[in-house]
Amino acid sequence: MKSDILAVRGRQIWDSRGRPTVEAEVVTAGGAVGRGMAPAGASRGIHEAIDLRDGGPRFGGYGVEGAVAAVNGELARAIVGLDVRSQDQIDARLIVADGTTNKSRLGGNATVAVSMAALNAAAHCEGEPLWRWLAQGAPVRLPLPEIQIFGGGAHAGRRTDVQDFMIMAPFAGSVRRALEITADVYRAAGELMARTGRLAGTADEGGWWPNFTSNEDALVALTQAIEASGHRPGAEVFISLDVAASELVSGDGYRLPLDGAQLDSAAMVERVAGWARDYPILSIEDPVGQEDEAAMAEATRRLGGDTQIIGDDYLVTNAARVEQAAAAGACNALLVKVNQAGTVSEARQALRAARAHGWATIVSARSGETEDVTISHLATGWDAGQLKVGSFARSERMAKWNELLRIEAQMGEDASFAGAGALPAGAAARLGWPPRA
Ligand code: PGA
Ligand code: ZN
Repeated sequence: MKSDILAVRGRQIWDSRGRPTVEAEVVTAGGAVGRGMAPAGASRGIHEAIDLRDGGPRFGGYGVEGAVAAVNGELARAIVGLDVRSQDQIDARLIVADGTTNKSRLGGNATVAVSMAALNAAAHCEGEPLWRWLAQGAPVRLPLPEIQIFGGGAHAGRRTDVQDFMIMAPFAGSVRRALEITADVYRAAGELMARTGRLAGTADEGGWWPNFTSNEDALVALTQAIEASGHRPGAEVFISLDVAASELVSGDGYRLPLDGAQLDSAAMVERVAGWARDYPILSIEDPVGQEDEAAMAEATRRLGGDTQIIGDDYLVTNAARVEQAAAAGACNALLVKVNQAGTVSEARQALRAARAHGWATIVSARSGETEDVTISHLATGWDAGQLKVGSFARSERMAKWNELLRIEAQMGEDASFAGAGALPAGAAARLGWPPRA
C-alpha cells in the first residue's frame, strides 16, 4: 500500500543551544515523507523519558550517535511495513522495541523523533496539513499563546529563581492579534531594561536576560512593561509564571538565592500565593517541586479556584501521573511535552486524561529546540487550547509562532481562537468566561 512505511532514516542535527540532537525521516511506499526533530530540556523532570547521550569527551557528552543508530537500526526495523497512518500501532512498536519504562535503552530522543516523523508522513500521505489530519474533522481552536518576556532559572545561569516570566492575552481574539500584543510587550520590556541600564541580551528561550535584584523585581518590571506597551495588565494582558520549583529544592525545602530565602513547603506556597495576590498572574507552573505532592495540592486548593496551576516536572506528560495528581487534588492543568513521554500517542493519552478531569492543557516546546513546528499543529489539531514555546525572538521559537499564523490563515473564516475558554473553569470565570447570556 502507498501508505506503508518503506524506510526510516536518522541523522544527527544541531539544536538551538548548539548541541547534537536526533532527526528522523519516515518515507512511505507512495513517496510521502515526514520529519521529526527531538527537542531537549534543561530543567527536566526525574520521571521523563531519558534522552540517550553518548557521554565521553565529544561534544561535552551530548553526542547522539547511539540514538541515531537506534533510529536507523532497531526502531526502523520495528515499524517498516506498518501503515504510517496507524500512529498508535507505530508508537506501540517503538515502546516494545525500547523495552524500558523510560525509553532509556534506545533513547526518548530517538523514539520521539521517529514518532513525530511518522505523524508528519501520515499527514503528507493524506495530503492534509498536520493540524487537520490530527483533528479528523472535529472542531478545533487555535491555541492561546503563553509567551516568555524574561527567561531565568536554568535558562539564564540561575540569575532569577523563577524560570519563566510570561504573558497571555486571552482576549486577543486571534493568534495574529495575540502575537502583535506580545511584540509590543516584548519590545517595551527590552526598552525598559535598556533605559534602566539592565539590558544584557537574552536567555536560552529568547526572553530578556533577567537582571533583577529579587524575583518580585521581575514581576514589577514585567507589569511596567505591559503598561508601557499600551495594553492593560490584569485586563488585556496577564502574567504567567513557570516557577520550575523542582530546580529550587534544597534539603527538605526550597532555596531562592535571589531572595536570600530558604523556605519550607508551606512557606514556598505562601511566597507564590503572595505573588499571585499582588500581580496580575493568571497561570502558575510547577509552583513547588515534582516530589512535593501535598504542597502541589495545597497550592491548587489555595490558588486553583481562579488561577491555572500547571504540572510540568511533576506530571511529565504521563497519563498515570495525571490520574494520581487528580486523585490528590493537585493541579488543574497539564503541560504536554511529547519528548517527556517519548511518543506522540503517549502524549495524547496524557492530554486525554487531563481533559477527562476537566483540566486545561498546554502543548509546550523545550528550552533546547529546533525549527520543527510539529507542536504548533499538535496544539491546534488536538484542540489543546494553549501553546507555550518560549519567547518572541530566535527562529526556533518564531518558527512555531509563525506556523500558527499559517494555520490560522488556512482555517480562514472558520478560525476560532481558544482565548479565555482555554483556561481551567475557575481561571476562566475570573475573566468573565463564558460570558453570561
Ligand atoms: P526545559 O524547560 O525545556 O528546560 O525543561 C521548559 C519548562 O520548564 O517548561
Ligand atoms: Zn516548566
